[in-house]
Amino acid sequence: MVIPWVFLVFGSWLLALAFVIKILNHPKRKLPPGPKPWPIIGNLNLLGSLPHKSLHHLSQKYGDLMLLKFGSKPVLIASSPEMAKEILKTHDISFASRPPLAAGKYISFNYSDMTWASYGPHWRQTRKISLTGLLNPTTLNSLEYIRVEERQTLISRLFPLSGKPILLKHRLARFTLRTINRLIMSETYCSSDASVVTHERLQWMFDEWFVLSGLINIGDWIPWLSWFDLQGYVKRMKALRKNMTEFYEYVLEDHKAKRQKEENYSPKDMVDAMLHLADDPNLEIKLTTDTMMGLIHDLVGGGTDTAATTIEWAFQELLKRPNIMEKAQQELDRAIGREGWVKEEDFSKLPYIDAIIKETFRLHPLCALIPPHYSTEDCNVAGYDIPKGTTVYVNAWSLGRNPKYWDRPEEFIPERFIENNIDIKGQNFGLLPFGSGRRKCPGYSLGIKIVRTTMANLLHGFDWKLAGDMKPEDISMDEIYGLTTHPKNPISLIMEPRLPLHLY
Ligand code: HEM
Repeated sequence: MVIPWVFLVFGSWLLALAFVIKILNHPKRKLPPGPKPWPIIGNLNLLGSLPHKSLHHLSQKYGDLMLLKFGSKPVLIASSPEMAKEILKTHDISFASRPPLAAGKYISFNYSDMTWASYGPHWRQTRKISLTGLLNPTTLNSLEYIRVEERQTLISRLFPLSGKPILLKHRLARFTLRTINRLIMSETYCSSDASVVTHERLQWMFDEWFVLSGLINIGDWIPWLSWFDLQGYVKRMKALRKNMTEFYEYVLEDHKAKRQKEENYSPKDMVDAMLHLADDPNLEIKLTTDTMMGLIHDLVGGGTDTAATTIEWAFQELLKRPNIMEKAQQELDRAIGREGWVKEEDFSKLPYIDAIIKETFRLHPLCALIPPHYSTEDCNVAGYDIPKGTTVYVNAWSLGRNPKYWDRPEEFIPERFIENNIDIKGQNFGLLPFGSGRRKCPGYSLGIKIVRTTMANLLHGFDWKLAGDMKPEDISMDEIYGLTTHPKNPISLIMEPRLPLHLY
């Protein structure tokens, strides 16, 4: 068939016009450097089982602000303190949201918790509720007795195991879970006889939540594949959601029942405070059961895994370097003496232990990749155009190893933190264990209280050594990646009491 020449000319003219309009509407954007993406998968092939390390190596080639594609979606990686500051401070408001991932949908009650909520009035309200209900200095101080009781329970349960090999990991996990449950819900709600749920089941719920929240789920990045759930993650998320819903519904019903039994009931814990707010017709946004369940889960999870795993990493480092442990115990003997335990108020007297904790955060940030942020508007970062809808990871693992900021970055040297007041609350962008900016951890004060006093009392109360034939140089620092990063090979330890026996 012969196409009349008028159509050809007119058609070409239309195409040229469409091209010019497109260019005028979208002047060429200057994007950050990054590896060339493959069709369909983008750069997903470059991520190994430890994505923070894969991204760290890529940043050495492409720079400290690089743009990747996960499937078809743009993902920005900030790997230096300067770029972390750009994202979390200079452009904080543009990046204060979270990407809509399956984890938020299935295991954070359809984004109605705080952690996975997008930036906006709902998120602001959840932060306000948790700050007024629990995470403020007055309430935290009034609940110190719970932390003391649970710490003493931990110590008195460890004492009879003296001389026998134990896995500290399990003991710490159980202790932090009991403590945080009591702080938020007044009761532990878990026991070994399954009256409500067993310790093991509850622990599984949190472990599974942290793993599933951090995994790279193919369906999030290649949406047309989400239907197939190729890795089986969504199936696991749905099973977890069922368990979570059953547990939190029980907790809410139990609190409601106690409220009805008592005349002029006054809220006794964070759950009571939320139920009270749920009845408030003037609340800016209605507090739904999903939000209450999501928020309880965020706070319990936030306080459990994080503190226990930080202490576990610190012990791995100390057992590798017994001279540091000895120095810490000498500090305890000098500052506290052998006739009592360490209290929260004593901490200003223990700068060396504080330095050990900071050094642990530097080399083993719990969130090796800070949970993803998400841009809600176009913006320009360090001269590059970042489109709205870009997911952003700040690589906290890289920040702590930046040779421009840290001398001998691979070595564990607590002394680097002595006599300089290096901040860990989000002001120093070379060390961001709690994040920074609008989304930074709301549980910082509680988390650091638990880590400090537990670490100090375990070191004060016991001498620790490796079980069996294991030598310090055999301790592995390999990691398992998730929303929080754990030691891959927990070590077996033997402890002996070092204080007078009547104290245990
Ligand atoms: C050693 C202890 C802890 C560490 C290292 C830690 C670390 C972090 C980090 C890195 C973030 C992400 C910040 C960001 O996205 O920019 C975060 C967020 C969060 N943390 Fe913590 N945390 C700890 C303890 C706690 C405690 C005790 C709680 C609550 C009781 C808590 C609750 C939360 C919540 C709810 C978020 C989400 C905040 C939001 O999205 O707005 N954390 N935490």
